[in-house]
Amino acid sequence: MVQRILCVCLGNICRSPTAEAVLRKHLPNVMIDSAGTGGWHVGAAPYAPMQTAAQARGYDLSLIRARQIKRSDFKRFDLILAMDRQNHADLTRIAPGDTATKIALFRDPVGGGDVPDPYYTRDFEQALDLIETAAEAWMKRLRLQA
Ligand code: 4NP
Repeated sequence: MVQRILCVCLGNICRSPTAEAVLRKHLPNVMIDSAGTGGWHVGAAPYAPMQTAAQARGYDLSLIRARQIKRSDFKRFDLILAMDRQNHADLTRIAPGDTATKIALFRDPVGGGDVPDPYYTRDFEQALDLIETAAEAWMKRLRLQA
């Protein structure tokens, strides 16, 4: 059974903290966390425009602080969800032992593909739309499995 899920993007200040908050709402009995493959923003709160857009849909990101993924995360979490294919490739490269089997694309249950990085696209609504749709699909998949 999936009990712990880690959402991963590049900076851990836009997409993965949003995915963390949205998944938590859909899967209240699952422990959800997020991290970045990069370390530039460690300790920072989520990016202000992302927080504002998420807040408007009822998701509070204000208490999340960015961290970088570490080796032990691959053991601790049952499922590691990459926000785009680059994140997936980076995670696969650093996964210790046979833990790469735990990695999936966040959009896998809706046909795969990326959640484009709103830090660059500036389209925070698109990121929220894609994250909400995929989170709902994960909820259905994991509840069926439980
Ligand atoms: P995220 O977006 O991966 O969705 O958190 C990013 C935010 C900042 C940077 C990269 C990605 N950055 O390099 O500063």
